[in-house]
Amino acid sequence: MSTSNRQIVLKARPKGRVTRENFETKTSPVATLRDGEFLVRTLYLSIDPTIRGWIDRDTYLPAVEVGAVVRSAGAGVVVESKNPKFNVGDHVFSLLGWQEYAVVGAKESPAAIPPGIDLTDALSVFGVTGMTAFFGLNEIGRPNAGETVVVSGAAGATGSIVGQLAKAKGCRVVGIAGSAAKCEWLTRDLGFDVAINYKTDDVGARLTAACPKGIDVFFDNVGGSILNEALARIALRGRVVLCGAISQYDNLDNAYGPPNYVNLIARRGRMEGFIILDYAPRFMEGVMALGALLAEGKLKHKTTVVDGLDSAPDALRRLFTGDHDGKLLVKVADG
Ligand SMILES: NC(=O)c1ccc[n+]([C@@H]2O[C@H](COP(=O)([O-])OP(=O)(O)OC[C@H]3O[C@@H](n4cnc5c(N)ncnc54)[C@H](OP(=O)(O)O)[C@@H]3O)[C@@H](O)[C@H]2O)c1
Repeated sequence: MSTSNRQIVLKARPKGRVTRENFETKTSPVATLRDGEFLVRTLYLSIDPTIRGWIDRDTYLPAVEVGAVVRSAGAGVVVESKNPKFNVGDHVFSLLGWQEYAVVGAKESPAAIPPGIDLTDALSVFGVTGMTAFFGLNEIGRPNAGETVVVSGAAGATGSIVGQLAKAKGCRVVGIAGSAAKCEWLTRDLGFDVAINYKTDDVGARLTAACPKGIDVFFDNVGGSILNEALARIALRGRVVLCGAISQYDNLDNAYGPPNYVNLIARRGRMEGFIILDYAPRFMEGVMALGALLAEGKLKHKTTVVDGLDSAPDALRRLFTGDHDGKLLVKVADG
C-alpha cells in the first residue's frame, strides 16, 4: 500500500460552469487510523450533479471548504481496519472524496457492498441513482397504471431508470433529452412511448401532442423552461417531483421561477422536492425491486466510465454538457 495519497481539493468556488481551475491536485500522507475507522482505497468515484452544489454553498450538507478534498460518493476496497465490522478486502460504498485513499468512520456513512455485486452497479442502479429514481417516482410521484408520466433528463442515470419504472407500472411515458441518439435509445431500447429532443424540438408543442390528457406525473431533473412547459400541461391532481434542477445549478442566485406554477392551483396539483438520503433506511426495498426488474430483463442502464482521478473535474463538467451516457463514473484504480 502506498503511504502517499493524491487528492483533488477545491481551489476556488465555481462561478458559472465548473472548470479545471476550480480544483488543484495535492499529495498528502495517508492518515493514521483511530479506533472505529478503516482505510479505503478508492476504486470508483460517483460523479453526481450534487457535487456542483456542495462546492458552491451550504445545501442539505455543509459546503466543502476551500482547500478541502472534494466530497464525493465512491466505492472502494478496505486496505486497513480498526473497525470490527469492516475487514481488509471488503468492498464498501461511502463518501470517499476525490482522493486515492479515504479514512472512513461513521460520518462518511459507509455501507458494505455484498460480494458478487459489480462496483459500477453498486454506484448506479443499486446506489443513490437507482434509489432516487425508485423512491422519488413511487413516494412523491405515485404513478398509477394508465397515467401519463413525463421525465426530464430522461436519458441520464436517474431519468432513464424512472422512465422504465413508470413503464413497468403500466404508464404512458414521455422522455425529454438532449440529443437525437439519446432520444432514439429511450424509444427503441427502453420502451418510452415518446422522446422529445429539447435542443431541436418545440418542447411545449411536442408535450401537447404527446400528452393529450395532460401530465399526471412530471419527474423533473432539469428545472427552468422545461419545468415551465410541463406545468402548463399538468393534469387535474397532477404531481410534480422536484428531483433536480440541473439547468439552474450554474446560476442558483438567479434561478428561473416558472410562471406556470399558478396552474397548480386550478388543477389541484402538487409540486414536492425530496432528498434521497431521507429514504436510506428503506434502500433494501429499492434494491430488491430494481434487482427483480433487472433479472426479468425489464430494466436497462448505461454507464460511462472515465479513467483516472485527474479526470474527475472534467467528468463533473460533462454532467452539464450531457457528454456522457447514463451513469458517469471515474475509475481511480483497479481492484
Ligand atoms: N433529490 C435527490 O436526492 C437527488 C439525488 C440524485 C440526483 N438528483 C438530481 O437528479 C438529476 C439527474 O442526476 P443524475 O446523477 O442522474 O445525472 P444525469 O442525468 O446522468 O446527468 C445530467 C444530465 O442532465 C442533462 N442536462 C444538463 N444540463 C442541462 C440543461 N441545461 N437542460 C436540460 N438538461 C440538462 C444532461 O442530459 P442531456 O444530454 O439530455 O442534456 C446530462 O446528461 C440532477 O438534477 C440531480 O441533481 C437528485
